[in-house]
Amino acid sequence: MVVATDYRNDVDEILPGVVADRRHLHENPELGFQEVKTAAFVTERLQALGVEDIRTGINSTGVTGLIRGTGDGPGRDKVVLVRADMDALPIHEENAVDYKSRNDGVMHACGHDSHTAMLLGLARILNDRRDTFAGTVKVLFQPAEELPPGGAKGMIEQGVLEDPHVDAVFGLHVSSDTKTGVIKVGSGPIMAAADGYRITVQGKGGHGASPHQCVDPVIIGAQIGVALQTLVSREVDPLDNAVVSNCVFKAGEAFNVIPDTAQLAGTVRTFKPETRDLMEKRITELATGVAESMGGSATVDYTRGYPATINDPEMAELTMAAARGVVGEENVEIASPKMGAEDFSYFLLERPGCFFFVGTGNEDKDSEWSHHHPRFDIDEDGMAQGMATMAATVTSYLNR
Ligand code: NI
Repeated sequence: MVVATDYRNDVDEILPGVVADRRHLHENPELGFQEVKTAAFVTERLQALGVEDIRTGINSTGVTGLIRGTGDGPGRDKVVLVRADMDALPIHEENAVDYKSRNDGVMHACGHDSHTAMLLGLARILNDRRDTFAGTVKVLFQPAEELPPGGAKGMIEQGVLEDPHVDAVFGLHVSSDTKTGVIKVGSGPIMAAADGYRITVQGKGGHGASPHQCVDPVIIGAQIGVALQTLVSREVDPLDNAVVSNCVFKAGEAFNVIPDTAQLAGTVRTFKPETRDLMEKRITELATGVAESMGGSATVDYTRGYPATINDPEMAELTMAAARGVVGEENVEIASPKMGAEDFSYFLLERPGCFFFVGTGNEDKDSEWSHHHPRFDIDEDGMAQGMATMAATVTSYLNR
């Protein structure tokens, strides 16, 4: 049993600087794969700290660096990666704060500004306290979490999990629907895989008064839409979870013309790989089968988005223990799975690790607006618990 180092005092000392960094980033948001100034800011900070082996321009704007512990312990040869995402969203900020976005129409409305600032803070703490851990911490700043195919996959393809070989991966996300002071950790699947489909129904258009001379794609599309809703209710294990939401149904222009084609599109959320495979197969079969049985045809374009985010049980346990040390047993909660998706999942496909949630919701600070809302903001005090938990997690991994 390793007693985790307590970094809370270190965190309190540097918090004002982390807040200033977060506000600077909030004022200067950049969209996915365009985080040029953000990456330059990150690089400058890492250089000033003396972080080693700084690499930039990975998958456009990604940055990595190494902090080598000087402690002696069994984790001497281990490398643990901590990731932050850097991108903002195409949203016009409606907050009246003095650090409001100066890039009109672009806003840090998901808290990635705080993720970047917290990871810079973590780099500072660990760099100052190299003696408290053995092994190496690799900090990774990633572009475009919000913009599928996302920045993570490309960074992995460009080798960020090697040279040196990474053994475990950790990441966090702030959460406006979790109270400040609370940390949520889940074991196993915690966020869904997010796929999309497009169906084009081919019928045969004609006069609305003569349906018998046509193949009506509107009716075929309606049948497909209904049939798709039987997938979750009739084909997925009731104890598993999935969503099929058909969000697009377009056909026709004139009230008396049966159109040639109809378009459907929707999103599919699943946790288990086998359920994901089932959905892809059955959506295709249902759409083409229904269309053909009604005299038309359908083509299905199924696109796989981010995979499910699945925490390693042992790494989740380690994170939970670290969080208990920071916020107390009563403030560590089990994260229930969410149907949203996150491209940290790609790191977790490659290495064991844990992605956890840090409460930043505080009614008194008006920071309970939902993520991606033009009024979204965070309670910056939550960053202290985020950094302290991450510091305790990665060092207890390296020291165990
Ligand atoms: Ni986010």
